[in-house]
Amino acid sequence: MMSLLDAAQDVRERAYAPYSKFKVGAAIRGESGAIYRGCNVENVAYPEGTCAEAGAISSMIAAGETRLTKVAVIADSPNPVPPCGGCRQKLAEFGAEDTVVILATTDGARLETTIGDLLPGRFDAGHMTNAS
Ligand code: THU
Repeated sequence: MMSLLDAAQDVRERAYAPYSKFKVGAAIRGESGAIYRGCNVENVAYPEGTCAEAGAISSMIAAGETRLTKVAVIADSPNPVPPCGGCRQKLAEFGAEDTVVILATTDGARLETTIGDLLPGRFDAGHMTNAS
């Protein structure tokens, strides 16, 4: 069976990053065990670009799953690349505090962390109890 990291590495090859030249691949495992992949997709209007993690999450939601159990992100970087702030919040929406996030480089460096460690004190639904 293909590992989550292999899936992230595989989809990274298809990243569309002509502006930054920085290709990122992300793979997430849904509760069903299925793997969903995403890569960064840039745009000439730079802010319209999307991150690899966001693409993987879209793929999971489109397939009908809403909970993720593991995440892997890979890039060609001197050190494992941490998800940006926005992607931390996006991952937190669908994973648990102790959900493992593997950050990797194409040279073989690995860093294992969790969604909770990436986004301490996150904004969650509990903050909106007076919203109705
Ligand atoms: N990028 C991701 O796709 N994920 C990350 O975790 C960090 C950054 C992308 C966005 C942009 O296309 C390129 O990397 C440079 O920032």
